[in-house]
Amino acid sequence: CGIIGYVGPRDAGPLLLAGLRRLEYRGYDSAGIATLNDGRLVLRKRAGRVRELESLLADDPAPGRCGISHTRWATHGPADDANAHPHLGGDGAVAVVHNGVIENHAALRRELESQGIRFSSQTDTEVIAHLIAAELPSAGDLLEAILRVLPRLEGTYGLAAVCREAPEQVVGARLGSPMVVGIGDEEHFLASDPAAIAAHTSRVSYLQDGEIVRLFPSGFEIRHRDRGPITPRIDRIDWRPDAIELGRFAHYMRKEIHEQPDTVRDACRGRLRPAEATAQFGGLNLPPSRLRRIRRIVFAACGTSWHAALVGEYLIERLANLPVEVEYASEFRYRNAPLDDRTLVFVLSQSGETADTLGALREARRRGFPTLAICNVVGSTIAREADGGIYLHAGPEVGVASTKAFSAQVTVLTLLALHLGRLRQLSFPAGLDVLRAIESVPELLSRVLDREPEVIAAAERMAEARSALFLGRDLHYPVALEGALKLKEISYLHAEGYPTAEMKHGPIALIDPETPSVFVAPRGSLHAKTLGNIEEVRARRGPIVAVGTEGDDELARLADHVLTIPDAPEVIQPLLAVVPLQLLAYHVARLRGCDIDKPRNLAKSVTVE
Ligand code: G6P
Repeated sequence: CGIIGYVGPRDAGPLLLAGLRRLEYRGYDSAGIATLNDGRLVLRKRAGRVRELESLLADDPAPGRCGISHTRWATHGPADDANAHPHLGGDGAVAVVHNGVIENHAALRRELESQGIRFSSQTDTEVIAHLIAAELPSAGDLLEAILRVLPRLEGTYGLAAVCREAPEQVVGARLGSPMVVGIGDEEHFLASDPAAIAAHTSRVSYLQDGEIVRLFPSGFEIRHRDRGPITPRIDRIDWRPDAIELGRFAHYMRKEIHEQPDTVRDACRGRLRPAEATAQFGGLNLPPSRLRRIRRIVFAACGTSWHAALVGEYLIERLANLPVEVEYASEFRYRNAPLDDRTLVFVLSQSGETADTLGALREARRRGFPTLAICNVVGSTIAREADGGIYLHAGPEVGVASTKAFSAQVTVLTLLALHLGRLRQLSFPAGLDVLRAIESVPELLSRVLDREPEVIAAAERMAEARSALFLGRDLHYPVALEGALKLKEISYLHAEGYPTAEMKHGPIALIDPETPSVFVAPRGSLHAKTLGNIEEVRARRGPIVAVGTEGDDELARLADHVLTIPDAPEVIQPLLAVVPLQLLAYHVARLRGCDIDKPRNLAKSVTVE
């Protein structure tokens, strides 16, 4: 689940241990470390928390200036000492840590066992260690040996390895599981998550799928496993090393809102395939042939995750022309919802622990339908019990009102819609347009966040209200629902979300000078109709706040407050439009003196029915 490697002048042990601690939030059940010292590989590993490993190391240190370490979340074999990583090959010649799943591990294991190799764990990872060790003598060096082994592995990996013969070298490789190089001064790091190394350096280089890296104290080299050397792209990470700290923010909610450009970037990382104009997921565990046969999708979720699923419905219908149903998990689990083998069931949950959503997952599986999860917390119950899925990689979300997890979910669903679309009727150029649009989101989000003062002005107007309407249509209808939910949750101001044009069938009776209407109205195909609806509210003297596109003078003329977002293609507008509404809820709650991070009666994760 978490990987950190180090090579440089410092004592590797304490440094690796500190890195593992930074990854603890991801969930894991054992931890281990291997260092190189005096021509020997020193291995220490233990089931349980990082502190168990720490006390083992206190009694029995692992000296050395080069090493790898890992926190494991069990997939193959229980969480015991033997199955903890690192795993050794060639009688201690090589140590390997690995994230991901090697699907053909059983066949490889049989082959190795028939050659007399004895295994000391039940993991798929140990196969890799033995394969590398077997190649080492003829390959002559660790990188070459790994290059020979990679084509034999089916599945996904982010891996790191060290070998006895090369005391100042760490080699890493990536296919479907993230890896990042940290660039220091005469020292280099390798990690599955930049959070592990952010305390040491802000200069990083993200590995892409198919790439392999060799780190020395003085530098690093990246090559593609088929195409040879690559000039690394150096990125800067600008977030705080400890993602659980508030930093310059007064509340987690606002901090997490401001993290969203990174959230979207992280949710896309390694998943965009411009050459095929598509997106790809490592963990779906479904071959394209199976996905092409799907005729219907069911999403089950609660709360904000349910709203994200609703955006997913609109996107998947648009891009993949597939019918989608979005169910409240609490309803789905007790209904006789018809499913068949051409239906794909997804549950969505930030925490992965919501009881109703878990119930829906279990019910679908009980009825014999493989069920996938879109989840943030790695190793959570839902993530463990699902047959496959997509992780959000949004980092820990602390604020009870979910914000960045929503954006990560919508990002992932946009990628899923693209993926499903490209397996069906979506053309290459149309697919590429979607992909490029998604790539532009982080930059556009930064511009939305720069407009926070506009939101504060609107919040001052709304803070005294007793009730508010949130209106949006098409892709923006779920955004309106989410805006209303956010306001309710943290400011206790009554709010209702409605499809814009449906307003005249009821809620219009509520409009008066004390009841603001918040329209989600960026420029798009239905814009003129929305402007008509805004006129209707204005005619009844209702205050109007509108999320709108930069330069939309007509909207500016109609609305009392415009919360501006940049001009953007419709498919990414929900990701942009939700942010001013999150900020609006935040500032209204702040002005009303509410306890923003811990709203009354709510829990971050509801583990009861
Ligand atoms: C609770 C939280 C909501 C969240 C919902 C679903 O009600 O207060 O913010 O949206 O659970 O949570 P999940 O972790 O399953 O996404």
